[in-house]
Amino acid sequence: MISFHHIAIQTRDLDNCLAWYRDYFGVEEKWTLDEFSPLTLSRLPGITRLTEVRVGDVRLHLFERADLVYDPVAERAAQFQHVCVATESPQELSVRRDRWIEVFESKNYAFARPDQPTEIVVDDEGIQSFYLFDVNGLEFEFTYVPVD
Ligand SMILES: [Fe+2]
Repeated sequence: MISFHHIAIQTRDLDNCLAWYRDYFGVEEKWTLDEFSPLTLSRLPGITRLTEVRVGDVRLHLFERADLVYDPVAERAAQFQHVCVATESPQELSVRRDRWIEVFESKNYAFARPDQPTEIVVDDEGIQSFYLFDVNGLEFEFTYVPVD
């Protein structure tokens, strides 16, 4: 039996990233590392700091690489494309969407891209979703799946 342990997110600016994840996702900071093994340094050149945060039972490893660039071409490369978060009600979807806009408009954070969240769409099975970007330009989906 295995289980997923964490999702790793690389950022150019850990302070900005951490502050946004705290503000928007309500994450709790667990620990920070600033010394890395030769393996980590060879896999992730330029890594300076890594902080583990948790929201519910999900861990995120946020780490800074100062030389990171946002590259729209890379969006076509094979990669983890988005992470999806489920809500317990359709109302919560709207709340999460409005909250993203509020946090964006606070101008407290630097965003890699200016895109606003999508509208909430409903598919044939009644599943509702919208998509947003974090400060690094990584995509998240929020979804509400009705219980039958
Ligand atoms: Fe999805």
